[in-house]
Amino acid sequence: MTSVVLGVSAGIAVYKSCELLRLFTESGHDVRVVPTRDALRFVGEPTWAALSGNPVTTEVWESVHEVPHVRIGQSADLVVVAPATADVLARAAHGMANDLLTNTLLTARCPVVFAPAMHTEMWEHPATRANVATLRERGAIVIEPAVGRLTGADSGPGRLPDPAEIFEVCRRVLAGRRAHLAGRHVVVSAGGTREAIDPVRFIGNRSSGLQGYALARTAVARGAEVTLVAANVSLPDPAGAKVVRVESARQLRDAVLAAAGHADAVVMAAAVADFRPVRRSDTKIKKSSAEPDPIHLTKNPDILAELGEIRRARREAYAAGDGPYDAPEGRRSHAGDGPGIGREAGTGGPYPRVIVGFAAETDDVLANGRAKLQRKGCDLLVVNQVGENLAFGTPDNAAVVLTAEGDSVEIPRGPKEDLADVVWDLVAQRLA
Ligand SMILES: Cc1cc2nc3c(=O)[nH]c(=O)nc-3n(C[C@H](O)[C@H](O)[C@H](O)COP(=O)(O)O)c2cc1C
Repeated sequence: MTSVVLGVSAGIAVYKSCELLRLFTESGHDVRVVPTRDALRFVGEPTWAALSGNPVTTEVWESVHEVPHVRIGQSADLVVVAPATADVLARAAHGMANDLLTNTLLTARCPVVFAPAMHTEMWEHPATRANVATLRERGAIVIEPAVGRLTGADSGPGRLPDPAEIFEVCRRVLAGRRAHLAGRHVVVSAGGTREAIDPVRFIGNRSSGLQGYALARTAVARGAEVTLVAANVSLPDPAGAKVVRVESARQLRDAVLAAAGHADAVVMAAAVADFRPVRRSDTKIKKSSAEPDPIHLTKNPDILAELGEIRRARREAYAAGDGPYDAPEGRRSHAGDGPGIGREAGTGGPYPRVIVGFAAETDDVLANGRAKLQRKGCDLLVVNQVGENLAFGTPDNAAVVLTAEGDSVEIPRGPKEDLADVVWDLVAQRLA
């Protein structure tokens, strides 16, 4: 039985962690709840003890003969702190040990997940940003809070993600797929674009976003900072990903290129319309007795090719010693007096370093895939055969991943998260 420590601190969202606790216990985990003193003002000790079936203490001074300040952390397979207050993030980042939870965090050698929840101002404060960066640098997984209604009438980033989403991150961390992407920023596009014909009609496609969302979720569980560019997806936001919503191919292009300038990898899982109507009517096109006017189409930007082209140009300029280039913004701010824009020490040059495309083919799947990989200049191409009950809208997928070096990796039919894991393994290898 795996041993999970659920740390709870004094955020208003702490009641949601009762549900998280149940998800752990009902799936067979032994859970020891370690609250902070103030957390018990919101939800009392009897609730945690009854739901976990284990004793609950906040202090190092109880049951001292069992040395709980060391034992609990040492014997854990996973520590998850949800909600993690600004205060607990600060104490953990500074290595403080003034209660049982922070002692446990210092003695744990297992993966540690923090799910922060607080008001937007607290989350965005430079002190909290620095504490989160420190914890991430040390290998902890800090899940981005969700955006939405906070205490009172406020809303913004700071909500505790859905307990089921936090549980899913923990489940995958426990499954051993973790940390290969700690400290990395990845961009994933998901869903299908819509090209407006008039205010009510559009040209769209059948993509549900399931594959892109699986990629985002699995990347979060590996410790990556994830920007998810979602085109018309109606799925719940994956915990920990920064979601940017778009509708059309051109909006998706702008969002992906904006995020790609400071990303290590871009995975283009969205189904992007190749064409759009030349003209969008401002008013609904009326049904009349006459035959409708034909819809003339024009080509949309080829985002994958553009990404490859930008990177190629940056590489050439980088090799020639010309600059400047856009540095990954996050790193620039942490790097302080780093080696200069676009020349990040030990990272091997301009960004994004890995570009992954998806190709949905109905015929001549592999030959078309190879040709596309070369045309677009990407590193990996995930080739799906689409058809009835294949790829779109189903929980399963099967694919072949083609590499720029001419290799191929076959992924048998299985959950979209398994496919996502193969993609991230290949991305992590290339980033290593
Ligand atoms: C009603 C109320 C709600 C609070 N909600 C939060 C919160 O969501 N996140 C947070 O970081 N702090 C919140 N605080 C402040 C913390 O409770 C306070 O910083 C406390 O000292 C944290 O203790 P702990 O980190 O040891 O649990 C809240 C305080 C009150 C009174």
